[in-house]
Amino acid sequence: MTTKPTMATEATPKVAPHRLPNFSAGPATIPTEVLMRAQEELLDWQGSGMSIMEMSHRSKDYVAVTQKAETKLRTLMEIPDNYKVLFLQGGASLQFSAIPLNLLNSGRGDYLTTGAWSSKAIKEAQRYSALGLGEINLVATGKDSNFTDVPAQSDWNISDDAAYFHYCANETIHGLQIFEPPQVNAPLIVDMSSSILSQPIDVSKFGMIYAGAQKNIGPAGLVIVIIRDDLLGQASEWCPMLLNYEHQAEKESMSNTPATYSWYLAGLVFDWLEEQGGIAAIGEINQQKAALLYETIDNSAFYSNPVAHKHRSIMNVPFTLADSSLDKVFLEQSEKAGLLNLKGHRDVGGMRASIYNAIPLEWVQLLVDFMKDFEKQHG
Ligand SMILES: Cc1ncc(COP(=O)(O)O)c(C=O)c1O
Repeated sequence: MTTKPTMATEATPKVAPHRLPNFSAGPATIPTEVLMRAQEELLDWQGSGMSIMEMSHRSKDYVAVTQKAETKLRTLMEIPDNYKVLFLQGGASLQFSAIPLNLLNSGRGDYLTTGAWSSKAIKEAQRYSALGLGEINLVATGKDSNFTDVPAQSDWNISDDAAYFHYCANETIHGLQIFEPPQVNAPLIVDMSSSILSQPIDVSKFGMIYAGAQKNIGPAGLVIVIIRDDLLGQASEWCPMLLNYEHQAEKESMSNTPATYSWYLAGLVFDWLEEQGGIAAIGEINQQKAALLYETIDNSAFYSNPVAHKHRSIMNVPFTLADSSLDKVFLEQSEKAGLLNLKGHRDVGGMRASIYNAIPLEWVQLLVDFMKDFEKQHG
């Protein structure tokens, strides 16, 4: 009989430490159980007499930790065998360069821009087309709507023979999510930094998925790349070895010293996610959290969210007050009430609540209760 793994061990303190609802967009809340487990193992990892941070990345123990993390992620996301899973550094932003360097291959890269992050991705790719590595094509942009909606696919300028099609599944700043992968012929390359592991997805629909860790995976310093085998081996001769996906796959993401602690912690987060019932189970809670928050916003003339309903993010919920002169008071009072990091991004203004996997429904309920009280006082 196999026993279900749990985060808690004999030594885990029974009283949870003081933790305040933290709605940061990233680095974001990590499950308390994960941090307690890491704390417990910090000085002496599983009787080894040293911290996992002090261990060689090539040691048998550490390699086993990384293999377990990869296996867990493969199981959670049902990643098919013909995909490599890489645990790299440089954040999601460095992939904006790695993608054209690995995949453009003198061809065309199609880009859809739906917010700040996909706009940064195309800007970076254009630097390589300027060097003659291929062409970059803007398929469509949501800029005219201030990135509150996605242009209809019938208006997209899709290339016939693109090497890839890049988009961002969840625009963290604008709170805009694309739930269904676009139907195009080119391999889909998707930035899932702020939505990975939040809902079940069909990995086989994508050529490559990448995500910075500091939202739903663990601490910053790690980026995960899930890439289909047939996309390897096309890198430009200018591609630095550390950015070369084929090389990193051959070296099992250890071409140089990896972000060992972040990788270990990501493994603990995957254990935690499995304990929550996996992605489908956490996905249902994520839907409930988002529904509660959007209902509160929509049922009030005091709060608003401008994003087209079918693209409202279930992870990042920006909202504004009818009277923006109250923003400062809202932020001061919410912080006093122990609700942290609700300030919106400077590009959008107002407030933003990031409600990633580690945010329990109860924290969203506390936020909604605060919002209703605030409206009563100031509405
Ligand atoms: C959707 C998205 N893409 C890319 C990035 C950039 O990630 P990093 O800071 O890890 O490079 C972020 C960061 O918040 C993001 O939210």
